[in-house]
Amino acid sequence: MALLAVENLRVTYGAVEAVRNVSFHLDRGQILGIVGESGSGKSTLGYAIAKLLRPPGQIVGGHVWFDGVDLVPLSELELKPIRWRELAVVMQSGMNALNPVAPIRRQFEDAILTHRPMGAKAMRERVREMLALVNIEERYADHYPHELSGGMKQRVAIALALVLEPKLIIFDEPTTALDVVVQRYIVQNLKALRERYHFSALFISHDLGTVLEIADRVAVMYAGRLVEVQDARSLLQHPQHPYTQALLSCFPDPRADHIEVMGIPGSPPDLADVRPGCPFAPRCAQIIDRCWRETPAYLASPDGNGVACHMVKEREGSAYV
Ligand SMILES: Nc1ncnc2c1ncn2[C@@H]1O[C@H](COP(=O)(O)OP(=O)(O)O)[C@@H](O)[C@H]1O
Ligand SMILES: [Mg+2]
Repeated sequence: MALLAVENLRVTYGAVEAVRNVSFHLDRGQILGIVGESGSGKSTLGYAIAKLLRPPGQIVGGHVWFDGVDLVPLSELELKPIRWRELAVVMQSGMNALNPVAPIRRQFEDAILTHRPMGAKAMRERVREMLALVNIEERYADHYPHELSGGMKQRVAIALALVLEPKLIIFDEPTTALDVVVQRYIVQNLKALRERYHFSALFISHDLGTVLEIADRVAVMYAGRLVEVQDARSLLQHPQHPYTQALLSCFPDPRADHIEVMGIPGSPPDLADVRPGCPFAPRCAQIIDRCWRETPAYLASPDGNGVACHMVKEREGSAYV
């Protein structure tokens, strides 16, 4: 059984449907990258899965199976034992969950005492150990968040997400506000932490380069929908959807440090606008008549990859039927 199976998930903000019938699954120990332009619904998807949407955002359809339990109908009280201990979230740096008025140590202690209490001595050791994991000296435990640099704060946020050893961590643009050197450092650090803790993760980013570096599989989002899911390696070599192809062709070396999802001409549709047809059609180089009339369904192949494109479906010998 997959650790996480999202099924036909739909999220609206009033009249705007920001996540449109999204389905995918995440196996244990895997990192799934979610990539797409700003406004494509990545954060909304991540927050919906963690049941952290704020009004007017609401889930209007679908399921989020986490370890066999559908989180969608659960109340706050029912979610309490799952949050942090089983499923943690690391937000965009600068907006992270650190409490500005408490020293770092207290934030770890509060999490431990609320969810998995232990004695004072063990707790002290645990804080030291968690900070060491992200290469932060213990003396910073008694500092306040504002006394740390952006990169350090983000590493503390990662350590704080890990402290209860959750099965799933959702990272939403964890490195976006940081400079390139710090970004690389954090990504390398995350890879090492994953070796040690075997967590699964959703890694959300608008930077395809970072996603390809860290993720086992990649989900590409466009205008609230998934348009392609593939193994990172095969996505790089054989992108199926014209949007993915365009993203990759913008860059001479796809292994470059940064592949900003901004290089293709035109802009994504307004999500409030519900015209028929493929949402990518106005920017697509491989368009056929049908693309203007019908929104392509997301089709999964037997190996769990998937694509939403009329062209790909009609290609001879396509695995997507
Ligand atoms: N708080 C909100 N209120 C109303 N609409 C929102 C809100 N947050 C996001 N949206 C809508 O959802 C779309 C997707 O936003 P978001 O999930 O933040 O995208 P991403 O993380 O990919 O940049 C936005 O383009 C906007 O139309
Ligand atoms: Mg976002």
